[in-house]
Amino acid sequence: MLILAFLFLDATPYAAKIVTVEEICKNPNPAFALTFAYCSNLLNSIPGGAKGANVDSLAQYTLEVLQSNLTNTVNLLKSLIANSSTSPDLLDVYHMCLNNLDDIGGRGQGALAEIERIKNGLKEHVYSLFISGLTDTLIYLQNCMSVDHGTPNREFHDPSLLPQYTGDIQKVIGILEAMSVYLFP
Ligand SMILES: *[C@@H]1O[C@H](CO)[C@@H](O)[C@H](O)[C@H]1NC(C)=O
Ligand SMILES: *[C@@H]1O[C@H](CO)[C@@H](O)[C@H](O)[C@H]1NC(C)=O
Repeated sequence: MLILAFLFLDATPYAAKIVTVEEICKNPNPAFALTFAYCSNLLNSIPGGAKGANVDSLAQYTLEVLQSNLTNTVNLLKSLIANSSTSPDLLDVYHMCLNNLDDIGGRGQGALAEIERIKNGLKEHVYSLFISGLTDTLIYLQNCMSVDHGTPNREFHDPSLLPQYTGDIQKVIGILEAMSVYLFP
């Protein structure tokens, strides 16, 4: 009887849920500095519109936005590091961020490598991979955003676009986190 039940579950086709943008964005987690407007603008910009889109395709789209945000940030970091006017303190920060965000040497580490794992998890409907990949991406981002890097009181102002770029990444991770509760069949 139990075996038959499992067979039945296995044979059940996966059906992605339809969840509205309002539902996903209604209670943004303050930890991500995300607002309803940012969340709904981003999701509504999915090609073809968000109306009637299932949660898997919204998540897929949001992951592509996150990947492009991360790629832009990696390119920004590379140009900041190449600039000889960058101060040694900021150079440390930029190297630290590049190590955490880029997949340096293709070793499968860093936020950009995690995005691949999350995408695969979503494609295969293995949501535990989605969640663990999202958690790891957030840790990589937080390593980059904590500017003192274990050296308390080393305060300095970063005049570059980096804080704005990492702020965008944080918000997009917040959208994926809000969506993750609807991904489980
Ligand atoms: C991140 O993506 C969003 C949506 O496409 C865009 O508005 C924003 O400017 C991007 N930020 C970065 C740093 O690429
Ligand atoms: C290099 O950094 C300085 C100081 O922040 C800035 O004024 C200059 O525009 C930067 N140069 C390039 C090529 O980005």
